[in-house]
Amino acid sequence: MPLLVARLFVLLCWAQTALAQVHAGPYVPSPAVIVDEMLALAAVREGDFLVDLGSGDGRIVITAAQRYGARGYGVDIDPKLVALANENARRAGLGDRVSFEERDLFVTDLGRASVVTIYLLPGTVTQLVEKLRRELRPGARVVSHDYPLVPWREDRTVRLEVEEKVAISGSARTVLYLYTVPAQVGGEWSLALPRERSPRRLVVTDGPFRTAATLTVGGRPVPLAHFAVHADDVVAEVRGRAGAAALRLVGKVHGDVMEGTVERRPGETWRAKRLPAR
Ligand SMILES: C[S@@+](CC[C@H](N)C(=O)[O-])C[C@H]1O[C@@H](n2cnc3c(N)ncnc32)[C@H](O)[C@@H]1O
Repeated sequence: MPLLVARLFVLLCWAQTALAQVHAGPYVPSPAVIVDEMLALAAVREGDFLVDLGSGDGRIVITAAQRYGARGYGVDIDPKLVALANENARRAGLGDRVSFEERDLFVTDLGRASVVTIYLLPGTVTQLVEKLRRELRPGARVVSHDYPLVPWREDRTVRLEVEEKVAISGSARTVLYLYTVPAQVGGEWSLALPRERSPRRLVVTDGPFRTAATLTVGGRPVPLAHFAVHADDVVAEVRGRAGAAALRLVGKVHGDVMEGTVERRPGETWRAKRLPAR
């Protein structure tokens, strides 16, 4: 390839990558008091691996390491901020626990994270919902500063009045949103209940807003009165056959198996196995 054509090709590739990046928000650092509240809300502890999407000067990841002994990394599209964050980590003596990379947050792998923090524009946080739920493990926590991850339903909100925010957003009002990633339980399951000879067919539909489940009764799908998954905990209310009293099932999800006990029925257990997708 002649040199000029090769250079043009490299330039085109670079332009394509730059254009593919979505600017998710300008650099506005979270005030220190809000960083503290975000980490407390996520209940960060030693052993956690925190990822800050759009990490600015690195303050959230660095504070998590200093205060709680967590590890983590941050990504930012601004190379100057990435250099500043790495320098701040080095000065804090945390160079071996935290790191910062120049990377588009939308293509950052979240597989290692147990906590994710976000302070981005409202239109972009909602674009992250699917990625967060797909890539994070059950039980991982996500804290978003000021903007909810619609349509995902938050576990908790914390409202604060922070004077430093007036200069940023025109108001001291600050809201922090906490989310916990639920185990993915969508699909068809074969559910074995105590005192029943044959298993039943349970169909679960995962959604960011709520998880719904139906049980086949007399050949017809009947919605369960209650079905909820939080991290890897599952609770379901199942009506017994022939009008028998409802059973309240509590248990854990481990991949393609859910199992546990029946409330107020000592010694009785239940188990469900996910069926291969048709
Ligand atoms: C509001 S600041 C938050 C900084 C820091 N997380 C904090 O709370 O102090 C948002 C940061 O996201 C970065 N950012 C914007 N779009 C991004 C993208 N597509 N990938 C990675 N970083 C991005 C910006 O450069 C900026 O530093």
